[in-house]
Amino acid sequence: MTNSAISEMPEQWEKGFEALAQIHAQAFSVQGDRPWAAHELRDIVESAGCQTYFEYADDLITGFILTRAVCDEAELITIAVTPDSQKRGTGGRLLDHVTRVLSDQGVKRLFLEVREDNVAAIKLYRSRGFEDVGRRAAYYQTQGGNRVDALCFALILGD
Ligand SMILES: CC(C)(COP(=O)(O)OP(=O)(O)OC[C@H]1O[C@@H](n2cnc3c(N)ncnc32)[C@H](O)[C@@H]1OP(=O)(O)O)[C@@H](O)C(=O)NCCC(=O)NCCS
Repeated sequence: MTNSAISEMPEQWEKGFEALAQIHAQAFSVQGDRPWAAHELRDIVESAGCQTYFEYADDLITGFILTRAVCDEAELITIAVTPDSQKRGTGGRLLDHVTRVLSDQGVKRLFLEVREDNVAAIKLYRSRGFEDVGRRAAYYQTQGGNRVDALCFALILGD
């Protein structure tokens, strides 16, 4: 991939929420997850402790990542890469960027939940050192009504 860069979502960027919603829908509809509307994403992005980063490549947004930190712990709320850009390192670059930023901010643990059947995401998280710390039974409901367990992962960023 050429000319890729990661930037923080600018404040007051109204069209940004539509862009996030579009990428979220493209990325998650494949696996039958409900897309998040622009107003839902706005509520999350504007909430306390939330940080949002995009990757751009040749002026197109290829993916984004959303985290929320409280004291020295953070949660990875979501990560989404457009289908055309997947398997080219975008997810890894976004995750590496955010873990560096959080670590610099003094965050010690990063937590997340992932569908147990999400092979791509689980591979990405394990490749970055996340470890299983639990399971939430029937945590997700797909658009088709199926219930799927969540695996809970944690990454230690500092002592
Ligand atoms: C999960 C997701 C963010 C990964 O993004 P990506 O840009 O494709 O990831 P990368 O190219 O950085 O790949 C990271 C690792 O995952 C692996 N991977 C990516 N997609 C994969 C797939 N479909 N099947 C198997 N492995 C896959 C890559 O091979 C790579 O492993 P490696 O480092 O051992 O080579 C992307 O697939 C996505 O947006 N999925 C839909 C949304 C989603 O499920 N988000 C996570 C919710 S918890």
